[in-house]
Parts: sequence; structure tokens; C-alpha cells
Amino acid sequence: MEAPLTLPATPEQRELTYHRVRDALASLLDGEDDWVAAMATVACELHHAFGYYDWTGFYRVVGEEMLVIGPYQGGHGCLRIPFARGVCGAAARTRETQLVPDVHAFPDHIACASGTQSEIVVPVIAPDGTLLAVLDVDSDARAAFGDRRPPPLRPPPPPIRPRKSPESRAGPPAHALLCSTAKPPAERSTPWRVRD
Ligand code: SME
Repeated sequence: MEAPLTLPATPEQRELTYHRVRDALASLLDGEDDWVAAMATVACELHHAFGYYDWTGFYRVVGEEMLVIGPYQGGHGCLRIPFARGVCGAAARTRETQLVPDVHAFPDHIACASGTQSEIVVPVIAPDGTLLAVLDVDSDARAAFGDRRPPPLRPPPPPIRPRKSPESRAGPPAHALLCSTAKPPAERSTPWRVRD
């Protein structure tokens, strides 16, 4: 396993590490269609690949305008975040990545840990436009994710057809989650997305 990328890191080093994570996820999640397993694996791989990721995890959309914590790595995170609150809520409301070089300058930032200095929150949106979750990453380093809006996500790799299995409950191959355009099959509920 590669040593985690630490700061300072060049854009090329970040890109290389990101691609390594994406390739690892494509292999780890091949044929997997469970969303909780996918989120847990994505959080784990990202967290351990980047040494300056101090909290890495998902908040899932539950009901109307509420985010509820999902799989994560790092210290305990707050359990629920209304769309009206915090950096995560801003990502959910706007459906745009929130890049925060200095959390102390972000009005209504929710500090789950006193050491957090910068944060990035990426909305996870299905191809049909459904907001599924947000991916939240905190760092104890200032401007750890840069201070310019990140480039748009590249189109996802072609989906790998999940192996048919009776216990399979929902979701396409989960590595697409990293590209935040995965689409849960309409005929099956997404295990981790609780409706009202
Ligand atoms: N900082 C986030 C809250 C989640 S904890 O950082 C894990 C926010 O302001 O929405």
C-alpha cells in the first residue's frame, strides 16, 4: 500500500493519488451493488490515501431537507445536518461543491472537531438529478484542498453490471459513487436512503 500523500502536494501528485484511489475502488467494488458498502469503502480509501484528510465521510439525504451521517473515517461527526445549516447543508442546497480554504471564514460552519481548518463538500447526484448524499472531507491544514473551485468531475467509467444475487438489494456498481453520478435502480430502494 502506498504511503499517504502529505502536504505540501503538487496538483500532479494529487491527481495521481486520486486516480490510484479510483482504480482501487473500481477493483474493490467490482460487482458490488450495496450503497452502504460502497460509501464505507470510498471513505476508507480516500481517507487513507491522503494524509491531510482528517475526517472523510458521507451525509445521506433522508426525508425532506435533512442530511444524516453515513459511513465515515475520523473522529465522531454530528449525526444530523438540516439543509439550512453548515457547509454540508450549503452543498445539498446548491448542489455545488463547497470549497472552504478557511472554515473560520465560512458563516455557520459546523465544527465537529476543534482542529478543522479547511473543508470540501461534494454533492453526490444521480444521473436522474436526485441528490443522494454529500461527501464531506475536513482537514486540520488550512486550504488543504486548494483555494480555487475544483474542475468538474469527469464522466464516470462505464458501469460494471452487478452480479445478480438474491440478496443484492440496490444500486449500480458502487465505484461510480466516487464519480457522484451513480444511479440506484428505480425498482429497488437504495438501502441507505430512508424515505419519509
Ligand atoms: N463541517 C460540516 C459538518 C460535518 S463535520 O465536519 C463531520 C458542516 O459545516 O456542515
